[in-house]
Order: sequence, then C-alpha cells, then structure tokens
Amino acid sequence: MSESVPRISIRDAAAHAGATVEIAGWLYNLRRSGKICFPLLRDGTGIIQCVAVKNQLDEALFEALKDLTQESSLIVRGRIRAEHRAPGGYELDVEGAEILQRVPESDPYPITPKEHGVDFLMDHRHLWLRSRRQHAILGVRHEVIRAIRDYFDSNGFTLVDTPIFTPAACEGTTTLFEVDYFEGEKVYLTQSGQLYNEANAMAFGKVYCFGPTFRAEKSKTRRHLTEFWMVEPEMAYANLEDVKRVAEELIVFVTGRVLERRRTELTELERDISKLEAIRAPFPRISYDEAVERLKQKGSEITWGGDFGGADETLLSEDYDRPVMVDRYPAQVKAFYFQPDAQRPEVVLGVDVLAPEGYGEIVGGGQRIHDLDLLLRRLEEHKLPREAFEWYLDLRKYGSVPHAGFGMGVERFVAWMCGLEHIRETIAYPRMIYRTRP
Ligand code: 4AD
Ligand code: MG
Repeated sequence: MSESVPRISIRDAAAHAGATVEIAGWLYNLRRSGKICFPLLRDGTGIIQCVAVKNQLDEALFEALKDLTQESSLIVRGRIRAEHRAPGGYELDVEGAEILQRVPESDPYPITPKEHGVDFLMDHRHLWLRSRRQHAILGVRHEVIRAIRDYFDSNGFTLVDTPIFTPAACEGTTTLFEVDYFEGEKVYLTQSGQLYNEANAMAFGKVYCFGPTFRAEKSKTRRHLTEFWMVEPEMAYANLEDVKRVAEELIVFVTGRVLERRRTELTELERDISKLEAIRAPFPRISYDEAVERLKQKGSEITWGGDFGGADETLLSEDYDRPVMVDRYPAQVKAFYFQPDAQRPEVVLGVDVLAPEGYGEIVGGGQRIHDLDLLLRRLEEHKLPREAFEWYLDLRKYGSVPHAGFGMGVERFVAWMCGLEHIRETIAYPRMIYRTRP
C-alpha cells in the first residue's frame, strides 16, 4: 500500500510499538459507537484491535470501515500503541486502509460469532480453520510435528520415507483400502510404514518415517480417523526395552516443547496445563496380565486373551497422571510380526502406551520377529500371501538381527495435548467413515 511503511505480522506488534506499520488481514469482528469504530483484524498470526476515528480519516474510508462485513480482506495502515487492556497488549490507530474484497451482505460469511453445530462447522471446515480455536489447535499440531522431527533428527535417526501404495497388509487385512492400480493390479493404501522401516533400519541403523497412513476403520469413535499421520522409528539391534525408553523420551520431549512454546494456544483452548506439566519420566510400566486383573476389579468384562476396548483403555489410564506402558500382549490380539517372549511364547514383546485423561493408545510398537522360520509360520497363521512378503523375508536371510520400533499417531497426541473431546479437530481436513469433504 505504501512504500515506506513496513508490513508486519500481528504477532510482532510489540517490536513496533510507536511506529506506523501496515497489516494485511481479514476482518474478524467489528464494534462501533458513533464517530469511532473498532475493526478486529486477524492476519493468521494473531488478532489486533484497530481504532478508526471518524474525524481523523477520509470520510468515505471511515464509512466503508464502519460497515465492513466479517471476513472481508483489507490492508490497514496505522500506528501501534501499547494498550494494557487489549488482549494482545497492543492496538492500532488507523491512518489509512485499502479494502481488497468486501464480503457482500447478500452472501455473508457463514460462520458467525454465534454457536453452530458440529456438522455445520465440519461442512465449512475450509472456513472454520479461521477461527481462534482451530487456529490454536493447528498451532499445537505444528509444534508437535516439529518437536517430533527435532527429537529424531538430534538423536541419530535418519528420515527415510516409505511408500503409500503398498502390495501387502501390515496391520491385518480387515482395515485395508484397496486401490485399482494399472492393468488390474490391486494395491493398498499403507496402514503403516513399518515393514519398509525394517528394511531401512538394516541399511541405516536408526530410521524414522513420518507420513499419512490409512485404515478402513468402520469404528465411529472419537479416536479414529481413516487417514491419520503417524511417526514411526525403527532401530536395528534393539529390543522391547529400547522401544519403551525411546517412546518415553519422545513423549516427554514433545510435551515439554508444547508447554514451552504454545502456552498461548493452550490457554485459548482452556487446557488444564498442570495435567501436561505432570508428564515426566519414568512412566509406569505394567504387563497385560496385570492390566487384565485391574480391569476386572474395575468391573470390565475383559478376559485374558481379549484386546482392550476404548473404555478399557480409559479405565486403565485413570489410575495415573502420566502415560502408562502396557506390555506383553497375547500373540492372538497383535499383528503377525511381533516377537514372542522367549519365556512365555503365548505373549509377544509388544507395548502400547496409553495416554492419561482417557485419550487412549497413543503409541503401539515392540520387537519384531527376526527368525525366518517363525516369520513364515506367522504369515501362514495370519493367512497372508507369501509372495507379497518375499522382500520382507529377505531381511531375515541377509544379516538378520533383533530389531524394534513403534508408531505414534499425531492426531491422538494432539487431541491429548489440547484436551479435545474428539480427534476430528486435530487435522485440517479430517477423513472419517462418514466424512470425506471438504
Ligand atoms: O498400534 P498401531 O496400529 O501400530 C502400527 O501401525 C505399527 N505398525 C507401528 C510400528 O510399530 N511402526 O498404530 C500406531 C498408532 C496408535 O497407537 C495410534 O496412536 C495411531 O497410530 N492410530 C490411529 N490414530 C487415529 N486413527 C486411527 N484409526 C488410528 N489407528 C492407529
Ligand atoms: Mg495399536
């Protein structure tokens, strides 16, 4: 708009107190009283209240600002002034403005400051993202992802991306999305990068992959998406105890980062921060056997050999103020690749980490079978086609070693950090059984 005036972000307003600046944004809300109006401007980094005074502005401009409609786009020029009563601590005294697009009254912005139902908001997800709450949640998500990468990048892990079109099932055949590939070939959307991670770990020692994964989950719960992001580390020459140690370190590190850098967002979300401050090592560790006993005492219908439902996970986690690690599940409830416990072959060296406050399983992983014959038997028991796994079997023929890893779901982690009721708000465009739009 003006050559000499610097264009700033609202989040940097403090550094420009007393100076005349330009801010490019959208009208979040507007209050007016006679000869003065207060446009609330948002620019994606924050919200600032502007003060436009009639007798200090061009008359046409004042009239235009005074009647501006929600989410109209505009560039405002003015002086930043400290104002201790303002939410961000600063206001802008308007000296000029340029309106880029005025939202017409005939077709107003659909999301008004009043209450809307979740379905309506989900249908308008592409616009809902502009709200303070969604902004705060996605800010926390960004921090979680950045912290996860920082953790692995600074602990000797190499990022190796794994494919999304895959020929084989990793996590069982019941949740596969099938895709028509060329000339009648069927492939599946990946459920997990793990199998490729195992190959990559034999090449690099410690690796991780981080990308979207897919599950044709028919379950309509507050913890399930059909498309979610998972970070998966895998380590050669490693066992179940290494998985627990790394998962614990990762969770403590990421939680610490969120607390350190996203206080404003957590406050906006009215998150009870003391609950997150309690997340410190060591995490309690219990066995599946012990978990079943506890659940029975708490009135669950579970019997030994069954998998935990969401309600069981909540019951288990309510005894702790930090995540609990449950290990050694019965082989029959886990995927084909889990290494059995040498002392008790009916249980496997797998661990689930259950978040507190009822957020359920955030991490699943363990030690993998490294013996070729045992792996072949398991593929048969699980009725998985050997051809699709030949390359995976090679890893047990050429320098096989004990190895282990895990997967952590980003959306469940973010839901927990933010204290959300439902996972659907943790990703910009959630995919669920009955939701594929917008
Ligand atoms: O326990 P899961 O299924 O483990 C695996 O996929 C392993 N192959 C990972 C590995 O060892 N490399 O999934 C891991 C995590 C869960 O703990 C949960 O956080 C998340 O992924 N997750 C989901 N998140 C949202 N919606 C779903 N439908 C999810 N399914 C799993
Ligand atoms: Mg699991």
